[in-house]
Amino acid sequence: MGKKKTAFVCSDCGAEFARWQGQCSECKAWNTITEFRVPSVKAAPRAGTMAGYAGVVEAKVQTLDEVNLESLPRFTTGFKEFDRVLGGGVVPGSAILIGGEPGAGKSTLLLQTMCLLAETMSTLYVTGEESLQQVAMRAKRLSLPTNKLRTLAETNVESICQLALREKPAIMVIDSIQVMHMSDVQSAPGSVSQVRESAAYLTRFAKQNQVAIIMVGHVTKDGSLAGPKVLEHCIDCSILLEGSSDSRFRTLRGNKNRFGAVNELGVFAMTGQGLKEVSNPSAIFLNRGEEQTPGSLVMVIWEGTRPLLVEVQALVDYSQLANPRRVTVGLEQNRLAMLLAVLHRHGGLQVADQDVFVNVVGGVKVSETSADLASIAALVSSFKNHALERQMVVFGEVGLGGEIRPVPSGQERLREAAKHGFKRAIVPIANKPKDAIEGMEVVAVASLSDALEALF
Ligand code: TYD
Ligand code: MG
Repeated sequence: MGKKKTAFVCSDCGAEFARWQGQCSECKAWNTITEFRVPSVKAAPRAGTMAGYAGVVEAKVQTLDEVNLESLPRFTTGFKEFDRVLGGGVVPGSAILIGGEPGAGKSTLLLQTMCLLAETMSTLYVTGEESLQQVAMRAKRLSLPTNKLRTLAETNVESICQLALREKPAIMVIDSIQVMHMSDVQSAPGSVSQVRESAAYLTRFAKQNQVAIIMVGHVTKDGSLAGPKVLEHCIDCSILLEGSSDSRFRTLRGNKNRFGAVNELGVFAMTGQGLKEVSNPSAIFLNRGEEQTPGSLVMVIWEGTRPLLVEVQALVDYSQLANPRRVTVGLEQNRLAMLLAVLHRHGGLQVADQDVFVNVVGGVKVSETSADLASIAALVSSFKNHALERQMVVFGEVGLGGEIRPVPSGQERLREAAKHGFKRAIVPIANKPKDAIEGMEVVAVASLSDALEALF
């Protein structure tokens, strides 16, 4: 065995350091850096050890046009929403990571997928967390076909791969990567070293043997677990299954995808019969009635790494109080005071004797400035009792001088809106896309007066 190398890895962002330090200088998180022993080169699996299995290729230098693409046709997971997030299906030999908080429904989604896939191809479902009885019980309760799916309860990565060499599955699920361990790595399962080495080993195995591997990775709210972040560089696709426990809706979104776009969104509903696809996801975020009422409007906000369409509502009404009320739900109170001042000075709208209420529908909390223009539009719409166009979205920051300032990721926001069937958008002039967006009329505005003109 060669000399072991040591590195220090941040469990949140995966950054590597030569020495230990209290704070990660990449992501600024405290106490996340743990020692990581890089196993000696000898321990890494080589093609020779996996010989005897079809698809093992000896490394050779090729030009890109010589590369054989025949083995690349994707296969469908049976869920359209899942396929879309993956970029059109599973690529053979790819390593996919599904992250999510415990209870999000990762095991349920994969069990449903695998039981259905097992009908047409060879599969292997490796469970390290639940016993086989638990998996079987769940499959039975969900009325899934259980006679084809091959399952295995094992947590040692080398044994799993040895077995997979014999079983030759086309697709394999590892639930979850946090409980997997390798004999060569000394630290405990779930530690950064184990998770990273196990994932790297499985990824190499996937590539060499053309087995698509889907790994489950838990993410906790504070991200303290050695989770998907430390793996993102070695796998092909990283997708996140999200959803609060008080809501039955779950969203699937790509973080990274080597075979497709990442701004695809898949929406599922958790029901008594497992996960069901939701064919019209905008309905969840935009729970609107048939009629468009004054003071209500859809805006495109940026949530973490993704655009989200949400409805903002305002009510401006004559106040009986000496100090009219200024109430916001989901927005910052001070921001509203500022917007009202700007509206008075640059929009000529006097609301000093009015109560003002602004609400972001669905309990969404907005912390970014792109909601400014939409809030103002909703306020004016309510004040004038003038309903705005239904198929319109608005976003942009409003400056104190009445100027409309750009916000990040304008293109993605517009695309998300177009995807949900919106026909018109009012955006800051600097966010106007260079290429037209199909089915969408984009109105770029430079000042508040321009915006009000375009709106009313
Ligand atoms: P699970 O797939 O075990 O979550 P994960 O593997 O991501 O930790 O899902 C568990 C949750 O899903 C659990 O809280 C109950 C709920 N659930 C349903 O509501 N209906 C169902 O049919 C199933 C199987 C689970
Ligand atoms: Mg699970």
